Amino acid sequence: MAIYKDYAQVYDHSGQLAFSLQMIPYLSRLLERHPAEGKVMLELACGTGTVAIAQAEAGGRVYAVDGSADMLAQARRKARDSGTAPLWSQQDMRQFTLPERVHLVTSLYDSMNYMLTSDDLSMVFRQVYDVLLPGGLLLFDMNTAWAFATLWDEETYFIDSDDLTVTMKSDYDSQRQRASVTVTCFQRVGDLYRKIVERHTEQAYPREQIATLLADAGFWVEGKYDCFSLDPPTPSSNRIMWAARRPGA
Ligand SMILES: C[S@@+](CC[C@H](N)C(=O)[O-])C[C@H]1O[C@@H](n2cnc3c(N)ncnc32)[C@H](O)[C@@H]1O
Repeated sequence: MAIYKDYAQVYDHSGQLAFSLQMIPYLSRLLERHPAEGKVMLELACGTGTVAIAQAEAGGRVYAVDGSADMLAQARRKARDSGTAPLWSQQDMRQFTLPERVHLVTSLYDSMNYMLTSDDLSMVFRQVYDVLLPGGLLLFDMNTAWAFATLWDEETYFIDSDDLTVTMKSDYDSQRQRASVTVTCFQRVGDLYRKIVERHTEQAYPREQIATLLADAGFWVEGKYDCFSLDPPTPSSNRIMWAARRPGA
């Protein structure tokens, strides 16, 4: 992958870790409402592994897939420090294999928005359906076009500390409902600063289209929420959390 390379080294320190730390208790709340029938799970597009490690610490047998070798290297290092052992693998989320089928798949923090065409998003849903056991649950969040129009359109975010300076400059193509962000980091290495530049692009989809793609893949949508709450989404929701179930046997 051309992205999540050098940026992987500073990802957690560039303000992104807070999202996963907020997600862990929220997932517990969601699972009370949408139970998984067992503890074999997949964290898809696991990034630096914060959620996968928490799932393993809670007693799950956790598979963790990501397309970026550099993000997985960070995840492995963190898992060593924590003494847990998710089973990491570098695979594309559109086409991957696991040694067994799972009760729960999570895919978090915009990862599905990296699917830039509905065909790609559909491939992921179909692939996830195949690795879920009958009755298995998929939980994922996606940024909305509203978020891109209000938070990403010609915006600049800036984070500064002694060892790391990050600017994120974003733009939004409202015709295509597609947003991009250029991440520029200066990471302190001894007395020098290393420059890291990556451009990330995300695609928003109307919620009706997401529901149709899920249904076409065989899923039953059990719920959708204004993310981090258990309230239904509104037209101004920035992020929607979806709970979709593979029907039981
Ligand atoms: C915004 S990060 C989220 C990471 C993690 N889920 C979290 O909550 O911090 C998006 C992740 O999606 C992964 N990703 C993007 N496209 C992918 C693809 N086609 N296959 C596998 N992983 C992909 C990236 O490598 C990155 O780790």
